[in-house]
Amino acid sequence: MSYTILSAAEAAAFIKHGDNIALSGFTPAGTAKAVTSALAQKAEEEHLKGNPFQVGVFTGASTGNACDGVLSRAKAIRYRAPYTTNRDFRAAVNNGEISYNDIHLSQMAQELRYGFLGKVNFAIIEACELTADGKIYLTAAGGISPTACRLADKIIVELNAAHSKKMIGLHDLYELSDPPLRKEIPIYKPSDRIGLPYIQVDPNKILGVVETNWPDEARSFSQPDPVTDLIGQNVADFLISDMKRGIIPREFLPIQSGVGNIANALLGALGRSTTIPPFEMYTEVLQDSVVDLMREGRIKFGSTCSLTVTNECLEGIYDDIEFFKDKLVLRPSEISNNPEVIRRLGVISINTAIEVDIYGNANSTHIGGTRMMNGIGGSGDFTRNAYISIFTCPSTAKEGKISAIVPMVSHLDHSEHSVNIIATEQGVADLRGKGPKERAQTIIENCAHPDYKELLWDYVKFSGNKKQTPHILEASLAMHSIFNRTGDMRNTKWDDFIRV
Ligand code: COA
Repeated sequence: MSYTILSAAEAAAFIKHGDNIALSGFTPAGTAKAVTSALAQKAEEEHLKGNPFQVGVFTGASTGNACDGVLSRAKAIRYRAPYTTNRDFRAAVNNGEISYNDIHLSQMAQELRYGFLGKVNFAIIEACELTADGKIYLTAAGGISPTACRLADKIIVELNAAHSKKMIGLHDLYELSDPPLRKEIPIYKPSDRIGLPYIQVDPNKILGVVETNWPDEARSFSQPDPVTDLIGQNVADFLISDMKRGIIPREFLPIQSGVGNIANALLGALGRSTTIPPFEMYTEVLQDSVVDLMREGRIKFGSTCSLTVTNECLEGIYDDIEFFKDKLVLRPSEISNNPEVIRRLGVISINTAIEVDIYGNANSTHIGGTRMMNGIGGSGDFTRNAYISIFTCPSTAKEGKISAIVPMVSHLDHSEHSVNIIATEQGVADLRGKGPKERAQTIIENCAHPDYKELLWDYVKFSGNKKQTPHILEASLAMHSIFNRTGDMRNTKWDDFIRV
């Protein structure tokens, strides 16, 4: 069958106020860009005419400016799930303009299938190839695309020439059945393939094809920084020591880590280690440093949901596809982040927190307990099911005026029951096998910044000993409230909150 070729504006014209759109991609990698940009323009035109125009947006994870940026600025988003990193979107959420549902990434596709989030009117899917019989070959991410295509009334394909057709074959696309019919996922090692390299759809569901040539809006790297380098080295040293002690098997275990400088520093340190053998990744995002370590033979295999790499790195993968094609697999997010598989493979998870408390609870999402930063992403999927779950963060933020180690987190994403290790540039706290009071000792001693140690020790002292988890509730968020009042947590005086 031949498909109707549409301009992005013609495709966007089909989408009505109140519709829900489900997008390909995971991070800016592989995300639909042209139709969402045209949709933002349509929203602005409708608003100028005095008409309401807003849609619900379902994605794999964050997107780029061509989706979350333009749509938020156009006030075109009514509801959105899950993760996002866009500054304008964040501002709109924190102004109360958008209903943002921060769902664990592994659950997004199934919550759509279960009907929790309403109808999917349109799937907008970026592809590098589309066949006459309805085979869609995705670009740089798996995301929620298989489910989006199956549930949507209509599919719009963005055929993006900026992605090489050499991507064909990297994907392993597999959609779960729903309970009570769900079976085990037969992945026993990161390289196992269980699905198809394409999404098969009914060609009659394809409303049209928008031809584009639009590179992914890849994020640029920030400069290496001594604090994140130290954190990465501390985590690597911890893993090496756990391996020498026999806690991590000699063949090592698959690693999940996020994007950014800490992940880069950690992977660099693991790459340089002469103790750790070549290892594998079972992760949701994979960045340039992993690709470099694959070329060096230090990483044997990468299973990921998206290639969150620079465009230059992506070109390099396409150029050397013969080398990479048996070393990489791209999966949908419900498989890359699946609790069953993560626990079976014994994945070691490494994620970043905004703050952690002295008992090991972690806040990944909210600044000051109320303002959304990005979202939980896949950190909960991995943390709760990891062989060893690790959280990293610098010990302070905002030039030392905020301690990342606090008596009680101002928002809870990962509880003390799931967090094994905390690492800052100061050192590593191993929480395994410890009760709350011992956890507080090791976290303050090893992870807190020297400027805050005494303050935290005093909180522990005043909280008393005759409780399972000592706290003075009226003082537990005092450091946050002193920051709000004076701009520096170091001004906290416990006797303002505690009768000592
Ligand atoms: N209190 C107040 N502000 C804080 C803070 C704290 N305790 N800790 C950090 N911040 C601020 C920083 O100052 C910075 O502010 P700015 O944007 O004004 O410069 C901002 O929060 C981001 O901090 P940064 O140190 O740049 O962190 P990052 O880029 O490493 O991101 C997370 C940290 C937690 C926001 C990020 O890792 C995330 O979104 N995690 C959740 C998702 C996840 O873990 N996914 C799985 C792996 S991909």
